[in-house]
Amino acid sequence: MKAVVYTKYGPPEVLHLKEVDKPIPKDNEILVKIVATAVNAADWRLRKADPAAVKLFFGLTRPKKSILGGVLAGIVESVGSEVMRFKAGDQVFGSTGMSLGAYAEYICLSEKGIIALKPQNLSYVEAATVPFGGHTAMHFLRKANIQNRQKILIYGASGAVGTAAIQLAKLYGAEVTGVCSTANIEMVKSLGADKVIDYTKEEIDGENYDVIFDTVGKIPYEAVKKTLKKKGTWILGAAGVTQMVQGYWSGMTRGYKIFSGLALEKEDDIKFLKDLIEKGKYKAVIDKCYPMEQLSVAHSYVEKGHKKGNVGVVIDEALETIYN
Ligand SMILES: NC(=O)c1ccc[n+]([C@@H]2O[C@H](COP(=O)([O-])OP(=O)(O)OC[C@H]3O[C@@H](n4cnc5c(N)ncnc54)[C@H](OP(=O)(O)O)[C@@H]3O)[C@@H](O)[C@H]2O)c1
Repeated sequence: MKAVVYTKYGPPEVLHLKEVDKPIPKDNEILVKIVATAVNAADWRLRKADPAAVKLFFGLTRPKKSILGGVLAGIVESVGSEVMRFKAGDQVFGSTGMSLGAYAEYICLSEKGIIALKPQNLSYVEAATVPFGGHTAMHFLRKANIQNRQKILIYGASGAVGTAAIQLAKLYGAEVTGVCSTANIEMVKSLGADKVIDYTKEEIDGENYDVIFDTVGKIPYEAVKKTLKKKGTWILGAAGVTQMVQGYWSGMTRGYKIFSGLALEKEDDIKFLKDLIEKGKYKAVIDKCYPMEQLSVAHSYVEKGHKKGNVGVVIDEALETIYN
């Protein structure tokens, strides 16, 4: 089968197309023919080992797993003898977790993985882009115990996590203010934000927010101190060292509740997202879409940090219905 592999950490050009063995499912696994995947922030971070701590978990001198890709949508081609949840022909979508491996024509996944039947009203590419932002936003909004009528500021509202967080926070009944640049204002509004702040032109105002969700790790500390209410919640979705220090210091000195760390994915959450999508309550937001052969180009684009929502990758063009 074809796969896009990398054997050393580095720039997008380390990714290259290669013929590799097609995997064979174990008794408890399903073999999925991948139709689409996506390039997320995690992918370029793993590719170039940024932060360097990536190497502690994914290989000190070179990557232990040569095929990246954490999300997918596709068709179950065959199942192991013990598999109960899926059958050949099922259309599925989900995450591969730490195993990665979705930049390929086929993958074997445990039937107990973060996989569900694909929403009927999404193309494969659209479905593949849902889990990354959706799981991350859901994880942190639940940690923050977001409540009806609470005021939340979503900083970085136009990325994969931000676009998911707007939609989910609105479903929890929150009053949402999204922060983005001029080009993304209409999109952020269309996803349900009650108010939008253009970070290129305006200061973040003093709304007395219950929750600040910084999805990109760039909110100025002064803005948090000015606008987050006493004992409010600050979600550090993508914090660097400085922000972590500020976060935990303000937790001690100002009583903020601080949430950071890795977002955990749960099987129930992928089903929850599927249900929301099928009821028309949650949208996949796609910026661009690339063929498998241009995965390194997709990485260059995503690494710039200015995509709108998500970037999809088509692995099997003939099976993907929406391709642009
Ligand atoms: N904790 C976890 O488990 C976890 C899970 C997933 C992701 N993450 C991390 O979360 C971060 C965000 O992920 P993502 O996939 O949402 O990223 P993304 O899609 O690449 O984010 C791109 C968006 O960020 C916006 N942005 C860039 N600089 C900004 C700024 N200074 N102020 C406001 N918005 C800005 C861009 O808007 P403009 O073009 O308008 O600037 C763009 O729409 C990544 O660093 C990722 O590694 C963490």
